Amino acid sequence: MAQIGTDKGKAKEFLESGNVVGIPTETVYGLAGNALDTNAILRIFQVKNRPSFDPLIVHTDSIDKVSQFITDIPEPARKLAEAFWPGPLTLLLPKQSLIPDLVTSGLPSVAVRIPNHPLTLDLLRSLDFPLAAPSANPFGYISPTTAQHVADQLGDQVPYILDGGPAGVGIESTIVGFENNLPTVFRLGGMALEQIEAVIGSVSVRTHSTSNPQAPGMLSSHYAPRKPLMLLSPGESPQPGERIGALAFREPFGGIPISNQRVLSPTGDLNEAAKNLFACLRELDTLSVDLIYAEPLPNTGLGSAMNDRLRRASVPAPTASPFR
Ligand code: TXA
Ligand code: MG
Repeated sequence: MAQIGTDKGKAKEFLESGNVVGIPTETVYGLAGNALDTNAILRIFQVKNRPSFDPLIVHTDSIDKVSQFITDIPEPARKLAEAFWPGPLTLLLPKQSLIPDLVTSGLPSVAVRIPNHPLTLDLLRSLDFPLAAPSANPFGYISPTTAQHVADQLGDQVPYILDGGPAGVGIESTIVGFENNLPTVFRLGGMALEQIEAVIGSVSVRTHSTSNPQAPGMLSSHYAPRKPLMLLSPGESPQPGERIGALAFREPFGGIPISNQRVLSPTGDLNEAAKNLFACLRELDTLSVDLIYAEPLPNTGLGSAMNDRLRRASVPAPTASPFR
């Protein structure tokens, strides 16, 4: 069983000897391994049960180090990096051959990010290699926002989980790529679109889901709990019932036991709601309910990214899928 602790030195030792380790970030916990070591990368895919066509994000601690892994940084990418790193933003940039093809699933671009978590930044500074880290959940399940979430699902396969407390942002990073210097958002996430557009002007968003992704990124049945989840339309009420669960934004719904409901933010704060989203979904998943209703969030700030997660979670997970 994984040990949970706050010992950076221990995490460093495991990583230097080619092991994978759970690490905290401000978005979600990651399953980290040496990004330059193909055996460590293979182990990440194996532990997550992740298909090899779904590439990994490379994490490091400075823009200087990022420039060692890429061949070029388009102007809008530089502006975003300077404005938001460390932070919940991932940039897709042309990779140097130093980054193994396994990390990028053979793509010419590598996803890079400087996470904003003091413990993990310290760890990254102490290492002489970057860390590849997908979210530390079994492929297709809800991302972990605490060390205990990681232990619950991957604990028997990971020797150590570095505990940095509950993730402050709570949803995965926003992913931005560039074609001919034109920015495109491939995943909505913890950095709001409005903030990105305030720095580089309008960006296109291409996050449509597919169950057979050519370009990796977004699978339709993703972030799913085991219980069926139904995303309500704005203003729609859930069907009442004793064996119904609900994820509400500001206040619980009538007609459903209070103990079967989780409220994301009583004050209507979308950042607070994002921080609570995945933990609430996990809790609802453990209740004796047959169906979970989710209230849609306002489509501003982190609300759009949360609605995207809920839409994907509401696709019933194919139980016989080889990816689960
Ligand atoms: O917040 C986050 O981004 C977290 C923390 C741990 O940093 N990580 C995370 O990783 O969410 P993961 O592997 O669960 O999601 C990464 C996404 C995947 O959908 C993958 O397809 C996409 O990034 N991605 C990675 N490299 C890519 C590339 N070269 N081109 C296109 N998409 C890429
Ligand atoms: Mg993930």
